[in-house]
Amino acid sequence: MIHSRIIGTGSFVPKKVLTNHDLEKMVETSHDWIVERTGIHERRICEKGQTTSDLAYEASVRALKAAGVSAQDLDLIIVGTLTPDSAMPSLGCVLQAKLHAKKAAAFDIYAACSGFLYGLSIADGFIRSGMHHTILVVGAEALSRYTDYEDRTTCVLWGDGAGAAVVQRHAGKRGILSTHLHSDGSYGDVLHIPGGGASHPATHDTVDKRMHYIKMKGNETFKIAVRALEDVVQEALDHNKVKAEDIDLLVPHQANLRIIQAMAKRLNMPMEKVVLTINKYGNTSAASIPMALDEAVRDGRVKENMLLLLEAFGGGLTWASALIRW
Ligand code: ACO
Repeated sequence: MIHSRIIGTGSFVPKKVLTNHDLEKMVETSHDWIVERTGIHERRICEKGQTTSDLAYEASVRALKAAGVSAQDLDLIIVGTLTPDSAMPSLGCVLQAKLHAKKAAAFDIYAACSGFLYGLSIADGFIRSGMHHTILVVGAEALSRYTDYEDRTTCVLWGDGAGAAVVQRHAGKRGILSTHLHSDGSYGDVLHIPGGGASHPATHDTVDKRMHYIKMKGNETFKIAVRALEDVVQEALDHNKVKAEDIDLLVPHQANLRIIQAMAKRLNMPMEKVVLTINKYGNTSAASIPMALDEAVRDGRVKENMLLLLEAFGGGLTWASALIRW
């Protein structure tokens, strides 16, 4: 049986910490409100001059080292990001150059917070088809560059960081058992960046109107997210004929502690089985799942043969799951 397996993970966050108390000085908010509504205590923010590719590079080097694979062994790099260094070239190509991964093709996936799981799904398909053998899948974001620090409804949420996984062909029962991807573009405007694309290229007017920042109808997004995640989790369980109690570890996208708790409750899962990083890193979009996964791998929570459920929800709207026999 051919599977694709994650053989090494890595993550990286910038040094600079932005606490809720720092944000209290910037907008009308409070530490207590942020903790109660989101579970976030602090987040990491890029230094001046630090870019998404810098974070992606550091996470990738760590993942390659953990996998015992050199960058020259990679035949594909897939990066989930909504905050590439520039519109062109892709972050994947910038990363390929930084890693000197000469044999690797590279491209980006633009699925917001679901970007890593979309990338993992593509990697899994390419590996099982025989088209590729060793793929680096990365989620990397510098959301602080798209954050309106005058908008209290969004600026308290986002953080910067990167996570990476080396995925390789494996003959055996362990590996990625399933991935499921979904989108509903009719909800595009509940979570979007209106300026900077072909419909509203950057002008003085778009800058004055603050159109280059992330806008979100938080409450609406919250309700759709809970419903969609419940469905995609059930879909993964049904597809693999496993029960919720068979899941050893839930690695959710870290958007809001209340959403994560709702999913754990839905799965009748104690919170000890859920990997949480939201308190210290906030919502790092495509980076959040590989960062959380790497943390759980490194602190020994992830053990051989465990059943891991990964789930994400983000702008697009997009949502996705992956079930992995580690
Ligand atoms: N500090 C204090 N008060 C605030 C703040 C703040 N930072 N932000 C909003 N409020 C106020 C609002 O103005 C509102 O006041 P009002 O009742 O007087 O109008 C009140 O708090 C409640 O606002 P809600 O938006 O209803 O608050 P909610 O409980 O929904 O929490 C939040 C907001 C945290 C954004 C939540 O809706 C959420 O997490 N949504 C989902 C996010 C998500 O999953 N996104 C998808 C992935 S992200 C991606 O793809 C990049």
